[in-house]
Amino acid sequence: MTSLSSGENADRIDTSKPHPARMYDYFLGGKDNYEVDQLAAEQFMKAAPEVREGVLANRHFMHRAVRHVVAEGGIRQILDIGTGLPTEPNVHQIARSIAPETRVAYVDNDPIVATHSRALSDDPDTTVVLADLRDPVAILDHPEVRAVIDFGRPVALLLVAVVHFVADAEDPAGIVATLRDALPAGSYLVLSHATGDVHEDRREDAAAVYKNATASLNLRSHTTVLDLFGDFAMVEPGLVRVTDWRPEEVRRPDAPPIGIYGGVARKGA
Ligand SMILES: C[S@@+](CC[C@H](N)C(=O)[O-])C[C@H]1O[C@@H](n2cnc3c(N)ncnc32)[C@H](O)[C@@H]1O
Repeated sequence: MTSLSSGENADRIDTSKPHPARMYDYFLGGKDNYEVDQLAAEQFMKAAPEVREGVLANRHFMHRAVRHVVAEGGIRQILDIGTGLPTEPNVHQIARSIAPETRVAYVDNDPIVATHSRALSDDPDTTVVLADLRDPVAILDHPEVRAVIDFGRPVALLLVAVVHFVADAEDPAGIVATLRDALPAGSYLVLSHATGDVHEDRREDAAAVYKNATASLNLRSHTTVLDLFGDFAMVEPGLVRVTDWRPEEVRRPDAPPIGIYGGVARKGA
C-alpha cells in the first residue's frame, strides 16, 4: 500500500482552493469535500445543470468498461490513474466480482484520495499511489505500482475523467502516448473526457469555474479525444457519449445529453 502516512497526507491537503476530486465527490453526493469545493460545485451546476447525471453516467460507463475488459478481454491487472475518492463499487470490486485475482494500482495526485483509498483494503493485490499523471514515467517506474502491476502481461489502463485536467501546454497527447507505449499487446485503454461539443453555448461558463481550482478543465473535441487512443483498435461502438457506450438501461426521453465522451480500445500485436 502507499508509503505515505495519513499524517503526512493531511498536511498536504489544500483546502484553500476547490479540488476536482472533492468537487466530483460533492457531485456524487459524497461527504469528503470542503466548503470551497461545495461553492465551486454549486457554481458549476449553474453553468451545467446536468452535471450530476453526467458524473453518474461517467461512473456507470467505467463500470461497464471494466466489466468488459475483465470478462471479455481477460484482463487481470488494472492501472487506474485519477481514481477519485472511494465510491462503491470501486474498480477492484467490479473487477473482482468477475475475476477475484485481479490486481489494481490506484493513482491520484490529491493527497485526500490516497488517505481515503488506503482505508479501502489491506490486501497485497491493491495499492494506492500518490503521483501525478503529468509525470507518467514516475508512475510507470513507481516501485509500488511495479509491485502490483507486471508490465510484461496485459494491463487495463484507466484514464477516466482525468485527462481533461491536463492543459494543452502540458502535452496530454504525449503523456497518454508514453503510458500506451509502456503496455504490452492485449492491453486496453479505457478513457473518458469532457467535451464542449454537446453544449457549445455554455462551454466557457463551465470551464471558468475550474479556473480557480487546483486544475483547469479542458474541454476537447471528438477528434482530439479519439487521437488519445493512438493506434489501439477501438472496441465497438467506438468513442461515443458515455451514455451510448454499450448502455444497459434505456435513458428517459427527456434526459439531458451528457458532454463526456468515453471509449475502450485494445493494443494489437
Ligand atoms: C473527475 S474525478 C474522476 C474519478 C474517477 N476516475 C471516475 O471517473 O469516477 C478526477 C480525478 O482525477 C484526479 N486528478 C486530476 N488531475 C490529476 C493529475 N494531474 N494526476 C493524477 N490525478 C489527477 C483528481 O484528483 C480526481 O480524483
